[in-house]
Amino acid sequence: MIKQDESFEKAAQILRDGGLVAFPTETVYGLGGDALNPESSKKIYAAKNRPSDNPLIVHICDISALNKLCVDVPEYAYKLAQAFWPGPLTMILKKSPIVPYETTGGLNTVAVRMPDHEGALKLLRESGVYIAAPSANLSGKPSPTTAGHVLHDMNGRIDAIIDGGEVGIGIESTIVDLTKVPFAILRPGYISPAMLEDVLKEVIYDPAILDENASKDLRPRAPGMKYRHYAPKAGLTIIKGAKQSVVDKINSLVENNTLSGLKTGIIATEETAAGYKGGNIKIAGSIKDPVTISHSLYAILRSFDDEGVDVIYSESFDNDEFGRAIMNRLTKAAGHKIIEADGDRTDKE
Ligand code: TXA
Ligand code: MG
Repeated sequence: MIKQDESFEKAAQILRDGGLVAFPTETVYGLGGDALNPESSKKIYAAKNRPSDNPLIVHICDISALNKLCVDVPEYAYKLAQAFWPGPLTMILKKSPIVPYETTGGLNTVAVRMPDHEGALKLLRESGVYIAAPSANLSGKPSPTTAGHVLHDMNGRIDAIIDGGEVGIGIESTIVDLTKVPFAILRPGYISPAMLEDVLKEVIYDPAILDENASKDLRPRAPGMKYRHYAPKAGLTIIKGAKQSVVDKINSLVENNTLSGLKTGIIATEETAAGYKGGNIKIAGSIKDPVTISHSLYAILRSFDDEGVDVIYSESFDNDEFGRAIMNRLTKAAGHKIIEADGDRTDKE
């Protein structure tokens, strides 16, 4: 493991030689390889066990890279870059011929982002390569938010890890597709529709990722959004409803589980944790500050795996736009298992 404050020379050389280096960003850890080297991209898919139709995000440290990696770049892309880069926003644009299909999963478009993290930017600058990087987890697992998570999944599969400590935001970047009008959010994240609409006149959600369409057979425009993700080993169910009814419902479920000899994990908030009477309670953060929740969500899912709980219940955190992005990940982790605290089961799978 390479500490973030050590020399990056070695990591930069590994990338130039076609090897793989995991590195921190402000969202989650990425698993990086040279984006213009098809062999590096193939290695990334192999290391993650990732389906090869699921394209990679290309990380850059300079806006001028847009003109090299992409063609027909609309003016809006520069405006978004100006407003949100470096930052947790990925843009889908038409790819230029230098970007290999191995990196774009066979698509004629490419995902590009400039991460807001000193370690990531330093690696980009020192290596001089555009870095293709998906999240540095094994396919299907929660994205890594510490170097320890990366090591857990990738030990022996990659050449180096840059340890930058815990990441900040904890869930992946917002993806916006600028190749079709109306522009569409393919994956929700920290950059909200309202923030995007300050720059773009109109932006919609890809209908396939909306909860209300979960039962319809729509194909998400971001290939990665069709896969079940983030799933912990124990079954996870989300409980929705008024705060007190949620706590009461979870308490009664935990009581039943305990009688059956099952170990239960609970994902709670600072505001509700004191209301639980049993179970392995983990405080994700404060409902008043959703970034505290996104910051710890994946680490909590991973720790329940380590602690061998049998069943997990989570409160719902969907009280604002960013909460919606958090719920997008949590709902996938739960395989769409949702219970309304007042009775109705809204199991959408
Ligand atoms: O925050 C992030 O975006 C992190 C960090 C490491 O930058 N990266 C990340 O990468 O989340 P990954 O591979 O786990 O997710 C990339 C998503 C996938 O859902 C993929 O299908 C989509 O981006 N994607 C990539 N290229 C695309 C393209 N050309 N068109 C549509 N979707 C694309
Ligand atoms: Mg991922």
